[in-house]
Amino acid sequence: MSSLDPLACRASLLHEETPLHPLPAISELLGIDLHIKRDDLCGAPFGGNKTRQLEHYLGAAQAQDADTVLITGAVQSNFVRTAAAAAMSLGMQAVVQLEDRVPDVDAFYRRSGNVLLLRVLGAEIMHYPDGEDEAGADAALRARAEELHLAGRRPYVIPLAVDNPPLGALGYLRSGLQIAGEDAAFDYVIVASGSGATHAGLLAGLRAGGSAAQVIGSCVRRAADPQRARLAEVLRRLRDLTEAANAASDADIAVWDGALTPGYGRLGPVATDAMQLMARQEGILLDPVYTAKAFAAIPALVGTGKIEPGSRVLFVHTGGLAALFGYQNDLETAF
Ligand SMILES: Cc1ncc(COP(=O)(O)O)c(C=O)c1O
Repeated sequence: MSSLDPLACRASLLHEETPLHPLPAISELLGIDLHIKRDDLCGAPFGGNKTRQLEHYLGAAQAQDADTVLITGAVQSNFVRTAAAAAMSLGMQAVVQLEDRVPDVDAFYRRSGNVLLLRVLGAEIMHYPDGEDEAGADAALRARAEELHLAGRRPYVIPLAVDNPPLGALGYLRSGLQIAGEDAAFDYVIVASGSGATHAGLLAGLRAGGSAAQVIGSCVRRAADPQRARLAEVLRRLRDLTEAANAASDADIAVWDGALTPGYGRLGPVATDAMQLMARQEGILLDPVYTAKAFAAIPALVGTGKIEPGSRVLFVHTGGLAALFGYQNDLETAF
């Protein structure tokens, strides 16, 4: 890390704070007081949580005078698409690496949704065959960065593996602080938990801001036990970046994996029901990979009694909407 304060080293990508508003119809149906944080409306085209994370990565890239940003992710990755758009908005080029994380996908999946947007944005697109090999994906990206460096470019790599400083979590630490500052009285905050940067950052920021809300991460990538372990590691590394993260302890980590089946990037019946509920009660769209699985936690946990009647609940909509068009075949079957 450089000696710069990681929290202060930030590019401005959000432009304005996203709305936080009630969801009256679903509140009434479920007997809770439900609100939504609209991070689907933030920053770059199609918005999403990665905008807040990228403020810190691209701030670091600017501090190093980079001219090219390199990033790796799944074929329909929102992070990769958001990074390409954000890099270009700051005058940088983007190199993106797409990993095969979802089995049995067809040619349409590989060229639509976020992939199509990458082509429009003019990003250089690379491929990596193994979606479970985070270290290998990072190494391939660093090898491309070295080639660019030798060609006179100034590359900045956004790494994937958990053993890197979680700069992206700083964006959600700041968001958690702000939510707690406005309203510390939520009983539960529900969010998608993949790399864990959003979940860990929110948890740390809410605690640092004085909120005792239980933050429940809905697992979208791996089952509850490995996800809990990953969260502990992200939190530990976040504490190395900023003392503000000391407010959250490992005992605060809560995860739910009831919508993960049939696996990362694949739509199952629990997520389909959640999409339908949100769309038809509130007119808000969820994406099939992250936010449908995250939102599914709320009716499920109200059903089991874990979320008590009358609880104040905040659902964080983390975006991902461009992927709706990549999942057209699944969605046509489901609806
Ligand atoms: C739309 C959306 N929501 C949630 C997540 C999960 O966020 P995190 O990787 O910070 O856990 C992602 C990750 O790619 C995403 O694209």
